[in-house]
Amino acid sequence: MIRVTPERTKPAGGTDPRERITAVARALRLTDGVVELRAPRRADAAEVYAAVCESLPELLPWMVWANPDYREVEAAEWIRRAGRAFADGVEYQFVVRLVESGELLGSVGLNAFDRLNRWANLGYWIRTSQQGNGFITRAAALVTDFAFSELGLGRLEILAAVENTRSQAVAERLGALREGVARRRLRVGEAVQDAVVFSIVN
Ligand SMILES: CC(C)(COP(=O)(O)OP(=O)(O)OC[C@H]1O[C@@H](n2cnc3c(N)ncnc32)[C@H](O)[C@@H]1OP(=O)(O)O)[C@@H](O)C(=O)NCCC(=O)NCCS
Repeated sequence: MIRVTPERTKPAGGTDPRERITAVARALRLTDGVVELRAPRRADAAEVYAAVCESLPELLPWMVWANPDYREVEAAEWIRRAGRAFADGVEYQFVVRLVESGELLGSVGLNAFDRLNRWANLGYWIRTSQQGNGFITRAAALVTDFAFSELGLGRLEILAAVENTRSQAVAERLGALREGVARRRLRVGEAVQDAVVFSIVN
């Protein structure tokens, strides 16, 4: 069974809530013994960049941030923004690694928070060379548990373009319910396309 084991440390001494939350983010580790998830760190930039570059043909059709000229500064900028968003409680991005080797696999994250109604969107990608091993399903299950048990959310949505069958298969493996197709819901490349809406509820 997949288990969430956030490592907790004493919050940093200062009274600035952002600093305290940043310290919690740095200490957070979700793992099931096969994959481990941590909030992105500055030192991850080169590996994120390498994983993205390797995977561009798979990412370009679906991920709005992917572009053919993706540069390492974009990875660094993503990490910087992820840190701020975590501290502000508006997004929770995680870098996924293999426990055994430490290899960076990709990312899973919670975004589009609707605090009032207690739901968020769950997104993910994995480097092409590690696709097909079940790692993203494992990582997404850990983030789902984190969202429900630590953030108190009651619902996660997964949006997958109607043609993105690999992403839909992840949602199905997670046990998400296919609720229907939302029209013009997801930006994919230059176009906004119809998307299958999946939900997981607590
Ligand atoms: C969508 C994406 C993350 C799916 O990655 P994935 O590796 O296929 O997903 P999983 O981790 O669930 O792995 C499932 C595969 O591993 C296999 N597998 C092996 N061991 C497994 C295990 N223990 N548990 C589950 N699946 C396992 C499954 O049979 C499946 O293989 P198949 O696709 O050949 O049938 C990946 O294709 C990707 O990054 N795409 C580009 C970005 C993207 O579209 N993101 C989603 C936007 S909404």
